[in-house]
Amino acid sequence: MREEQLSTIAIITGANRGIGKATALAFAQRGMVVILACRNMESAERARSEIIAQTHNKNVHALHLDLASRESVELFVREFQARFDHLNILVNNAGISTMARTFTLDGYESHIGTNFIGPALLTTLLLPYFQPHADNRVVNVVSNIYRIGLFRLERMNMYRWFKAYAVSKYLLLLFTLELADRLSGRGIAVNAVHPGIVKTSIMYTGKWFDIIIKIILSPFFIDVAEGAATSVYAATAEEVKNVSGQYFSDSKARRVPRLYNRPKERAIVWDIVQKIIDEI
Ligand SMILES: NC(=O)c1ccc[n+]([C@@H]2O[C@H](COP(=O)([O-])OP(=O)(O)OC[C@H]3O[C@@H](n4cnc5c(N)ncnc54)[C@H](OP(=O)(O)O)[C@@H]3O)[C@@H](O)[C@H]2O)c1
Repeated sequence: MREEQLSTIAIITGANRGIGKATALAFAQRGMVVILACRNMESAERARSEIIAQTHNKNVHALHLDLASRESVELFVREFQARFDHLNILVNNAGISTMARTFTLDGYESHIGTNFIGPALLTTLLLPYFQPHADNRVVNVVSNIYRIGLFRLERMNMYRWFKAYAVSKYLLLLFTLELADRLSGRGIAVNAVHPGIVKTSIMYTGKWFDIIIKIILSPFFIDVAEGAATSVYAATAEEVKNVSGQYFSDSKARRVPRLYNRPKERAIVWDIVQKIIDEI
């Protein structure tokens, strides 16, 4: 019997730094098999060594994943399948916020491609690896900013920076709610979390006003361990074991207003993901 057959196996995307690394550390402290799914392997290996040194849990692995590339997501799933025999927890944590207007190799505006398409594809391809009758959880890291993410389908690839970021997070929230419903009764809880306003590099733009963020605003930001707390709660807390389709912030379920949870938008999101899956 492979050793990991008995263990809780968790994948955290973007675990080489920021909130993802703090989430991975918390999982390693709980004795899980932890997979750091990262695009920067040098920094992923550094994070892996640090987590092992801090927790004495040697079951921490770094696998390459670039969420902006469909090919990379598929390769990641193949590598995961070759090395591990099941999955219990998937935390879709990785994300970008950039003022630059760029597109992924697959042709999506970068926020949409990285923060929504990549995680939705990854989740869908990993569903077969969740064990029946186990405690299975998917946690999607979104943001309260989803409230400015109402979108028009035909403009999906045209939004810029903050709006593009908000739309991408709203799309991931809609995917979470729809997937949770569709998996109802199948033993996989799917929830979204807002981590809080956290002191990480995502808060900075590379522009002059970073100094204002650093000096005036950053003292009010929470640290990465606090930022990871709601992801860890949704992924591990006993009281939310069978809770699905929720949006958590500060480790509490928050209501998603009806305006942001309409069947029409959920259907759009589902169709986008299914079309990509059908092409694979
Ligand atoms: N910080 C906040 O206040 C805040 C608030 C609300 C929501 N969030 C969300 O929390 C999550 C974590 O953010 P953070 O604050 O920890 O930011 P961060 O420190 O900038 O970390 C972002 C992580 O995502 C990874 N990533 C970016 N693009 C990727 C790609 N194409 N493929 C794989 N990994 C990729 C980064 O990897 P590289 O090292 O390779 O760049 C990094 O590990 C994000 O989804 C963010 O939107 C953060």
